[in-house]
Amino acid sequence: MLEGKLVNLRAVEKEELPLLAEWLSNPEVLGEYQGLRQFSKSEFEKTFGTEDKHEMNDFFIEKKGGTKIGMITHFYVLHPTGIRLLEIGYTMLPNERGKGYCSEAINIMVDYLFLSRDTMRIQAITDVRNLASQKVLEKAGFKKEGTLRKCGFLRGEWRDACLYSILREEWKEPRFLTKLKAQQ
Ligand SMILES: CC(C)(COP(=O)(O)OP(=O)(O)OC[C@H]1O[C@@H](n2cnc3c(N)ncnc32)[C@H](O)[C@@H]1OP(=O)(O)O)[C@@H](O)C(=O)NCCC(=O)NCCS
Repeated sequence: MLEGKLVNLRAVEKEELPLLAEWLSNPEVLGEYQGLRQFSKSEFEKTFGTEDKHEMNDFFIEKKGGTKIGMITHFYVLHPTGIRLLEIGYTMLPNERGKGYCSEAINIMVDYLFLSRDTMRIQAITDVRNLASQKVLEKAGFKKEGTLRKCGFLRGEWRDACLYSILREEWKEPRFLTKLKAQQ
């Protein structure tokens, strides 16, 4: 478990995958700026529950008492030329938004990834209209690299998205997982 001040991140267990499938098939949980998806529980287990080349790792964002309030994930985006980019994605339950939880979850995830992965950068992609998502990335030290034009098919139309990243040299040191740094 990765412990923060407001929230903890806990790796999703196999038996919890049906709950994640339910969340990520719910348009209200996905919000206005993520593509609509419908996962059957068995299909979801196949896609998310097994080792895959993207090395996707899902975490629940939990309040201190253990209540699940959102999810955050990290995975690799692979290009045939050998480029391998580490990316994060996240979603909060509608009634838990706007309370600072996701900002902290992203900070914890960034600490964890720079402490545990030999990577120079972490990236995130978000719809140009998704101001809350851009705000949480900027608060965690991500910088906007540019616009990916018409890259996502969303609710029947092609949408532009922003590419954000944080570099290891911009991160410098952990802000939340400070004890883990000491143990390295
Ligand atoms: C994006 C999302 C994860 C943010 O989570 P959250 O827990 O609400 O984020 P936080 O409370 O930590 O911070 C949100 C920030 O955005 C700001 N914000 C929210 N809506 C905003 C808007 N429409 N315009 C500008 N800023 C906005 C808040 O004021 C807050 O900033 P502040 O702390 O400086 O006041 C959440 O809105 C969500 O789950 N949305 C649906 C799924 C989604 O879009 N995921 C991202 C896909 S890339």
